[in-house]
Amino acid sequence: MPTAQMPPSTAFEAAAHEALVSNLRNTHALEKQAIAVMESQLKLLTDYPELHARMTEHIVETREQARRLEAGLEACGDSASLARDTLLSVMGLGQSSIQGFSDDAVLKAVAADMMTEHLEIATYRTLLALADMAGKPELRPRLEDTLREEEAMATWFEQNLDAITRRFVEIKAAELQAHAARRNDSVPPDDDSVAEPGATPEPDDSAPAPQTPRHPETKTPAAGAARRDE
Ligand SMILES: [Fe+2]
Repeated sequence: MPTAQMPPSTAFEAAAHEALVSNLRNTHALEKQAIAVMESQLKLLTDYPELHARMTEHIVETREQARRLEAGLEACGDSASLARDTLLSVMGLGQSSIQGFSDDAVLKAVAADMMTEHLEIATYRTLLALADMAGKPELRPRLEDTLREEEAMATWFEQNLDAITRRFVEIKAAELQAHAARRNDSVPPDDDSVAEPGATPEPDDSAPAPQTPRHPETKTPAAGAARRDE
């Protein structure tokens, strides 16, 4: 796609310039989406103060990264197209699942964020190569600043993944203990039927018959055996 600026002098540079502008735009859309995703994740992270703080810091960094990309597009003579960002594919971040609140939403969010950081690292390396090929070395400092931030974020995740996972299990264990304690508190202490935590409850023959009708598809073993003989 030709740009408003003077065309590059060679076909190679022209091809590189076109790819550079396209990738700057796509990366801008990627960063905007990353900001929205990270902001939505913060509410999941109240029990993970260090992760919350690092994510908050990276949201600030990512806003600046988006501004650097806008400046890069301006330097390429192509800033007006950013309005079309929302229509562009951003390579499928695979992060839709974290928008829900599944039981392990934090672990899914961290895995998706790690994937995004590595996607961004590859993307900024590509942009650096394209800037060189397109004869736009003035774009390098901004792109290198961002690349260092993405690498630092990816490294942080790698160094903290085990601790985050352990924290998740500790929280779940505390919830299990609290649940078991509530169950024990609700049963009279002299009741022999109180089960140990984690034990499979025994069927209670003395309990009154269920008031709900038997499920129509429930079959006796004999009936099942008869069907197998058919
Ligand atoms: Fe990032």
